[in-house]
Amino acid sequence: MNLKLSQRITNLVPSATLAAGRKAKELQDRGVKILNLSVGEPDFPAPTEAKEAVIAAVRDNFSRYTDSRGILALREAICRRAREDTGLIYGVNQVIVSCGSKHTLYNLFQSLLDPGDEALIPAPYWTSYPEMVKLADGVPVFVPAGTDLKVKPENLERFFTNKTRCLIINSPNNPSGVVYTKKELEDISRWVRDKEVLVISDDAYQRFLYDGQSFCSMASIPGMEERTVIVGAASKTYAMTGWRIGWFLGSQELADACAKLQDQSTSNPCSLSQAAAVAALSGNQQSVQEMCRAFQKRRDLLLKILSPVKEISYPYPAGAFYLFFTHPSIKDSVEFASRLLKEAQVALVPGKAFGMEGYLRLSYAVSEEVLTEAANRLVNYFAQTH
Ligand SMILES: Cc1ncc(COP(=O)(O)O)c(C=O)c1O
Repeated sequence: MNLKLSQRITNLVPSATLAAGRKAKELQDRGVKILNLSVGEPDFPAPTEAKEAVIAAVRDNFSRYTDSRGILALREAICRRAREDTGLIYGVNQVIVSCGSKHTLYNLFQSLLDPGDEALIPAPYWTSYPEMVKLADGVPVFVPAGTDLKVKPENLERFFTNKTRCLIINSPNNPSGVVYTKKELEDISRWVRDKEVLVISDDAYQRFLYDGQSFCSMASIPGMEERTVIVGAASKTYAMTGWRIGWFLGSQELADACAKLQDQSTSNPCSLSQAAAVAALSGNQQSVQEMCRAFQKRRDLLLKILSPVKEISYPYPAGAFYLFFTHPSIKDSVEFASRLLKEAQVALVPGKAFGMEGYLRLSYAVSEEVLTEAANRLVNYFAQTH
């Protein structure tokens, strides 16, 4: 039989971040000692309360289908946390829990876009946005950011058309680590306010802010609540990437649309993971604070080691756990990353995967020991290539 794959799947670009991780893992499995700084997940354990809750849930046979939108206790916990983090009050029916925030975003684009509808995606961007927009027959429209790698209203205006349906704001940002200030979000909100454009605020890294900053979501800017969807996740905040819990917070109408899709596609996310997420969200958040302190320390260590390399430049990594840097010797980022892996055994992700050629993304969610060794190898590598 001649298998004919759909045009949709043929056109889909494989995830470059997952591919980079797989390549490093393959070499590791062959016994090559790789310093893998390509991964986008915390290297910490899940919170103790989440682990205990999941064990109790298994013992209690909490193993049936749940409400497709997620169990009430979890939706209540998400509302409580949103109120603490943003001051906004959401009802439990404005929350949809999905299998990771990737799934939340997928539901959203499927619910929002008709063929040819456009989604504004500031570049650099998280690698899955454009592909998910394409899967919904939408058109990803890349908006170049300023030199600080943050998008400005004047850039957005240049790419806005009568087909623009949504704008994605991701702060703290993957891959750049930049954080939008309240003032910058207000400037964007003034631009968006008189348009029929929904803002998708991807807050996956909202708890990873350094230097004493506090988090500001687009949804909490006055006048923006009803035209913003918050996409939240347990993955990074609670080091629970594998448990697959993410959520939507937004208008009732859009929540109902996403719920209808989830009802007919995946149904509820894993019942056990939901029980764990209730405990994580309702716990004392100590593990989050500890992770945050550790990441800030690692970031400072990394910047110190790299500081002698005068030609490296990067936007200030104020949040998340990434450094997104460029250097005159990085012309083709895919080729450079592959050479770096072969010659220095350091795995990073090419900027091209995030819509930004000439850059590399380094994740400092690794031990100080690995980070120190990798950063020193980078310093030596740049010394040799110059
Ligand atoms: C910006 C951003 N949004 C969403 C996600 C999806 O995370 P998850 O599906 O684990 O919640 C990621 C994962 O790397 C991310 O970096």
